[in-house]
Amino acid sequence: MSGLLVVVGTGIKALGHMTLDARAWLASADEVHYLTTDPITESAIRELQPAATSLTRFYEVGRARHDTYEAMTQTLLAGTRAGRTVCAAFYGHPGVFVYPSHDAIRRARAEGLRAIMEPGVSAEDCLFADLGLDPAVVGCAQYEATDFLVYGRRPDPSAALIVWQIGAVGDLAWNPGRTNADNVRVLVDALAVTYGHDHVVVVYEAATLPTCLPMILHLRLADLALAPLSTASTLFVPPRERRTPDAQMIARLGLDGRRFGLGSPP
Ligand SMILES: C[S@@+](CC[C@H](N)C(=O)[O-])C[C@H]1O[C@@H](n2cnc3c(N)ncnc32)[C@H](O)[C@@H]1O
Repeated sequence: MSGLLVVVGTGIKALGHMTLDARAWLASADEVHYLTTDPITESAIRELQPAATSLTRFYEVGRARHDTYEAMTQTLLAGTRAGRTVCAAFYGHPGVFVYPSHDAIRRARAEGLRAIMEPGVSAEDCLFADLGLDPAVVGCAQYEATDFLVYGRRPDPSAALIVWQIGAVGDLAWNPGRTNADNVRVLVDALAVTYGHDHVVVVYEAATLPTCLPMILHLRLADLALAPLSTASTLFVPPRERRTPDAQMIARLGLDGRRFGLGSPP
């Protein structure tokens, strides 16, 4: 039988977010590799699979993240090519802002190997719960901070916006705890074009330990560079304005305009 690569997520909050699916794969795989951010999740994985190895060994301060990810992908592919069932566990959802998980699956499949991903609880899921945001109501766009700047993304001021990895904006290497305030100011300037410097935004960090509360810091966009940012910080930008419903479209869809705050149909 050819090898199988199974990528699972351990969630954001230790223990409580680890799904039964993830546990089952971690316990039954021939080999397990993991990338977690807290010791409780790490010991839970090692209880299920004592020989599990951490992928954090590939991180080196200043090393380009792309090189680190390539080393992780090669590790996951090696066991799969050898015919083993390899389980790779990443914190949060393993397919949300995680390059090596998607890359390893893509490359395994291209080589004719079997590869699947099980979903997990992401920081975005926690944000929806903690900030009371239902993306169905105003819509929600999300970008990685450096991508947002480099590709000149244009946010919709009537929708919610989530910006990931603000603590590492403009940094393609791994430098934990070294947020570049100048780069944060560049992000502020770019966002201010749409929202203005006085718009109130949220620096958000979901709780990672059971019974702990999230960190929810409201501040003016202009003050973002002064905020204590970490590798776990995510920026939430609430909408600045409401959209006006399109009366022609409402009519074309055969809908009642009163449902959208317009007058009754003729
Ligand atoms: C490499 S991504 C990993 C995301 C993860 N796979 C997920 O599903 O949430 C790292 C980014 O996720 C976000 N993040 C990670 N942990 C977080 C937390 N506890 N609270 C809020 N955002 C978090 C931050 O934007 C951080 O820079």
